[in-house]
Amino acid sequence: MGKPKVVLGVSGGIAAYKACELLRRLTESGHDVRVVPTAASLNFVGEATWAALSGNPASTEVWETVHEVPHVRIGQGADLVVVAPATADMLAKAAHGLADDLLTNTLLTARCPVVFAPAMHTEMWEHPATQENVATLRRRGAVVIEPAVGRLTGKDTGKGRLPDPEEIFEVCRQVLRRRVAEADLAGRHVVISAGGTREPLDPVRFLGNRSSGKQGYALARTAVARGARVTLIAANTALADPAGVDVVRVGTAVQLREAVLKAASDADVVVMAAAVADFRPAEYAGGKIKKKDGEDPAPVALVRNPDVLAEISADRAREGQVIVGFAAETDHVLDNGRAKLRRKGCDLLVVNEVGETQTFGSEENEAIILASDGSEIPVPYGPKEALAEAIWDQVTQRYTPRRA
Ligand code: CTP
Repeated sequence: MGKPKVVLGVSGGIAAYKACELLRRLTESGHDVRVVPTAASLNFVGEATWAALSGNPASTEVWETVHEVPHVRIGQGADLVVVAPATADMLAKAAHGLADDLLTNTLLTARCPVVFAPAMHTEMWEHPATQENVATLRRRGAVVIEPAVGRLTGKDTGKGRLPDPEEIFEVCRQVLRRRVAEADLAGRHVVISAGGTREPLDPVRFLGNRSSGKQGYALARTAVARGARVTLIAANTALADPAGVDVVRVGTAVQLREAVLKAASDADVVVMAAAVADFRPAEYAGGKIKKKDGEDPAPVALVRNPDVLAEISADRAREGQVIVGFAAETDHVLDNGRAKLRRKGCDLLVVNEVGETQTFGSEENEAIILASDGSEIPVPYGPKEALAEAIWDQVTQRYTPRRA
């Protein structure tokens, strides 16, 4: 098999310079990239840069090298088209099927997955015209990555920044790995909790666990690549924010519960991948607990934390919501898993066997997905992304049909 063929469309926004980094990541990781800049974008980054970095000619108009019919061929031959940055104007053209330059022609002829990474001022992003265009593109199966929040051109800040090129690259990698043109979570809101809660004893100490958050982040990344709107409730993780994901940071189980309940109110899917502490210290010492000569340490009394998974499963925020739990077991994995699925009342329970070195912090995982209908789906040892994809495959079979 040859190198995967990627078309990098660049439209006319200041963030075009960040597309150089995306291009470099794509070419360095073995993709054959053809850059198709719009004429306006050449005001920001010139053709020579694209040609040099990609090793391919960078054409703008349909009138160049006409004998090769590039306006049809480039799109037809692509495995992925990614438009970064996608301006409001580009989204409008794509949504309406206009074809007045090489990039818009390419978008019409492409039958492969298409990813748009919008970047613009907040007002333009929030305008109903842009929002409707985005909804149209998503409905047709394109992945439109939510812009990041932060500093925009000039002094203003808000939603509209192009996500980090490294993270856009991650989305492209996921989409290419799956090789399905249809983004089957498009139009869905998924909520994922990740990481591990910390229950403070005093201002410097806490009861915690070894969860790295990697499985939850893999779920978030793969959900974005499948078109979902993703809210990630991150408990004490040290991982980079994935592109297109609304990250809510929490510390304790009580904070996590609040954030999950809020986000779940309009969610189609909730995945509880976080390791939530079952207990917290009954007392919080306002000052650092000091050792005292000749005295034994005082025992730490614990109280129960709310069980978020059981609560959201028993009292669903909306009809047809799919709820997924995780279970880490050290022995009698299947029996314990089945009992836990019943006890928690969720639809799917992802059960994995853990030990001191297994799973925590690693890039790989192995699991069995137990479903409330009795089915049992083993997922072989492999990257956490593969387990994430297997979970989404099960979820998409279970939720209520797409709303009109
Ligand atoms: N969970 C939760 N709230 C808690 C504890 C756990 O929502 N207070 C969720 C986790 O996010 C996970 C699932 O419940 O999806 C399983 O957690 P686990 O700790 O394994 O289950 P427990 O019910 O605590 O069972 P046990 O400790 O007896 O193994």
